[in-house]
Amino acid sequence: MSIDSIITAIHDSTLSAILRGDFPGTEWMFPIIETLHVLCLTIVFGTIAMVDMRLLGLVSRQTPFTKLYRELIPWTWWAFAGAVVFGSILATGKIEDYAYNLQFLAKFVLMALAGANMVVFHVGAYRNVASWDKVVPTPPRAPEADQGRVGFFASGADRCGGRLVHGRPARPENARRGRLL
Ligand code: HEM
Repeated sequence: MSIDSIITAIHDSTLSAILRGDFPGTEWMFPIIETLHVLCLTIVFGTIAMVDMRLLGLVSRQTPFTKLYRELIPWTWWAFAGAVVFGSILATGKIEDYAYNLQFLAKFVLMALAGANMVVFHVGAYRNVASWDKVVPTPPRAPEADQGRVGFFASGADRCGGRLVHGRPARPENARRGRLL
């Protein structure tokens, strides 16, 4: 079976006709599926950005990297799987255009490069993660945070943060010493 005959078979399928809006009431299918595709992408990019910003020490510095990573990575993968499913459905709609579109083909090369980048990270830096994910210093508390009203609100936020991130209240003695909670 040649590539051309596969493309023709996809183009002649009912799914492709639905995506093209050939049947009454299916005119919105392409934008709906494209919206779902883009929603999945926002989760992919959002979770990757959170991991990258944690690596740069810009956010979630009190959370060990491995904990953050293990919590976020399933979201990245499920959202990526969603993007692949919705993207593949979208592609059936105009398969004859996409199959010979250089940008569309370049997109897969770039996705492969992103995958390779992840493999490099896993077999490289990530193998030593246990040695550094707990030693990133906690930002020092503001001097006034231990006193008065500011201290009251700050410790409340600290406790809420502790519960949100760790499922238990922050330990004040560690917070005062600027250690990880
Ligand atoms: C097998 C995987 C994928 C397939 C088959 C696929 C296919 C498609 C198709 C057919 C479109 C519609 C293009 C048009 O408007 O004519 C699209 C849009 C798009 N895709 Fe994908 N996609 C896949 C995965 C991804 C991934 C992993 C990303 C990003 C990392 C991505 C990013 C985008 C973006 C940014 C758009 C444009 C959305 C817009 O028009 O607002 N896609 N994709």
